[in-house]
Amino acid sequence: MKYDSQSRREFLTTVSRTGLLLSAAGVLNACSPLLATSSVEESSFIPDVEIDLRAVQDDIQILNGKKTSVWRYIAQLVQGPEDAVQTIPGSYLGPIFHFRRGQNVRIQFHNEITEETIVHWHGLHVPESADGHPRLVIAPGETYTYQFKVVDRAGTYWYHPHPHGRTGPQVMKGLAGLLIVHDEEDDGAGLPTGEFDLPLVIQDRSLSSDNQFLYQSSGMMGQMVGFLGDQIFVNGKPQMELPVATRPYRLRILNGSNARIYKLGWQDGRPLIVIGTDGGLLEAPLSRDYVSLAPGQRVDLWADFSQDALGSRLWLQNFEDSTPGSADFSLLSVLVDREADSTLPLPQKLSTPNYLSEGQALNYTEPRTFELAMGMGMQWTINSRTFEMEKVARDERVKLGDIEEWRFRNPASGNMGILFPHPMHIHGLQFQIVERIVADRYRPTWSTVSAGFVDEGWHDTVLVMPGEEVRLLMKFEDYEGLYLYHCHNLEHEDMGMMRNYRVE
Ligand code: C2O
Ligand code: CU
Ligand code: CU
Repeated sequence: MKYDSQSRREFLTTVSRTGLLLSAAGVLNACSPLLATSSVEESSFIPDVEIDLRAVQDDIQILNGKKTSVWRYIAQLVQGPEDAVQTIPGSYLGPIFHFRRGQNVRIQFHNEITEETIVHWHGLHVPESADGHPRLVIAPGETYTYQFKVVDRAGTYWYHPHPHGRTGPQVMKGLAGLLIVHDEEDDGAGLPTGEFDLPLVIQDRSLSSDNQFLYQSSGMMGQMVGFLGDQIFVNGKPQMELPVATRPYRLRILNGSNARIYKLGWQDGRPLIVIGTDGGLLEAPLSRDYVSLAPGQRVDLWADFSQDALGSRLWLQNFEDSTPGSADFSLLSVLVDREADSTLPLPQKLSTPNYLSEGQALNYTEPRTFELAMGMGMQWTINSRTFEMEKVARDERVKLGDIEEWRFRNPASGNMGILFPHPMHIHGLQFQIVERIVADRYRPTWSTVSAGFVDEGWHDTVLVMPGEEVRLLMKFEDYEGLYLYHCHNLEHEDMGMMRNYRVE
């Protein structure tokens, strides 16, 4: 089914054609009751950062031989601090945006690829007009203006396309980038900065013999499992080698894969020191033998190479678990190639996360429950429904200002015996993971990943394993409007494992 966004498109084109300085988002706010009233006065919106962002077709040299045809984001800083846009040389990945909490951001997005698209800022709490809902897609040649205030905690966020039915293929072609929010608390946490603060975007890809990305999501298996590539790319490159100095680093890891779930660990058995999750720094560092990272999720690590000998190598590994396509393989190799002239102690206190408490949830005794299942038409569903562009069911309406408990339940039976993990993502907010309830017969598969869950901290995506029910706590603040919740296995999402919820 195709959503007709014709009138909105014409409208947006008119806006850009006449060269009005009014933002499209602002204008839409004024004329559509569907769209949120933002806390930022649209008429008096003065951007601190202004960026021109384009989605373009390009050919880049990834492997020897023929160039790879990609779609990628390219950005130009129009106005604002110079370090707001950081490009990754030679990569198909979009530039890394660096924003500070409190900044007003305006982004003019130009669609220069051959199909409809729209950009979503994954993890950010923004007005609905800036959230990149699929109903806001723009046609090739059109422009969409985003305006929002950065209100989120410092942390590792990201952006990617969100057209209905085409998110998987567009991300796979290269459209994705990191968005890092900074604030005073994070600045003062005593963590490595500059060249010692490294982003690592992990994705899997398959390439044809002439170096083109292959995407097979069709057929039963493709639709059920999602896209699994046979090569690991880090920051847009295969076989990544990371030269480091003998000192601590901050590694910001994003699982930017369509469907692959990673079980990350160091090959020599040293623990991973976790300092942050989707929504920023933890209260204090945590140690894990491995970390399970589902599509869409981020984890910030403290990686200290000060005890490693010059010239030594270590590997960040994937360990085999019960998730689809899992195997033992290396993700990247680290080469300790220089002596550091400074070091840092691991801070014992990282941040004050200001958690909610369970008792604050209004529906504490009657949580909202969403069941994830394979429906009759061999389609993944949420409470037996698939995506409808503008529809919101009665159990998908929430009140502005409320704190609620939501439960995602991946049932232990039914599903015609087909059991899959689902990384569930909620737009527009960060939630807490309160509890996981696991059916006994699924403990064996569950326990291949469970010691790698980092349920502390703030999250926007949570892995819900087969036979598991996960309890979440969240608050609907500041903005009314239409937001999404969906499975972040992009093939499941494209198939319709996505729904609207409305804050009203
Ligand atoms: Cu990262 Cu709705 O998506
Ligand atoms: Cu999102
Ligand atoms: Cu799913």
